[in-house]
Amino acid sequence: MKILVIHGPNLNILGNRKKEYYGEKNIEEVNRMIQSKAKSLGFKVDIFQYNCEGDIVSKLNSTLDDEYSGIVINAGAYTHYSIAIRDAIESVRVPTIEVHLSNIYGREEFRRISMIAPVCTGQITGFGPYSYLLALEAIKYLI
Ligand code: DQA
Repeated sequence: MKILVIHGPNLNILGNRKKEYYGEKNIEEVNRMIQSKAKSLGFKVDIFQYNCEGDIVSKLNSTLDDEYSGIVINAGAYTHYSIAIRDAIESVRVPTIEVHLSNIYGREEFRRISMIAPVCTGQITGFGPYSYLLALEAIKYLI
């Protein structure tokens, strides 16, 4: 079973973003944590990072060929306003977990709105890189 992990915009510069929200780890370190957790759960994992909305939409659309058993997505700032990503998630056929490193409900007002939450299976927010690992656990439980 293979899981798709999508990191959205600005997550490529993790480690250089505000440490109080996003921690010290860079994306390679976070990806190693994801790989290791996936392995322990018996999953293969493909991890992609995109800064462009359309790339995220295209990758989500491509999952309709049933290559993946679950999707973990941190849509970054697109979370808060992308109807295109929401529509793409609405069309996928596998459990899709929204994750955030920071607690989006403890920050600015505009971050409390998630356009994608209503079409995701569930949301995990505020546990730093561990949010991704919890999302993998959730998929393991769901499938
Ligand atoms: C984020 C939260 C978003 O509000 C922000 O725009 C991000 C990262 C998080 O992981 O906490 O880029 O998705």
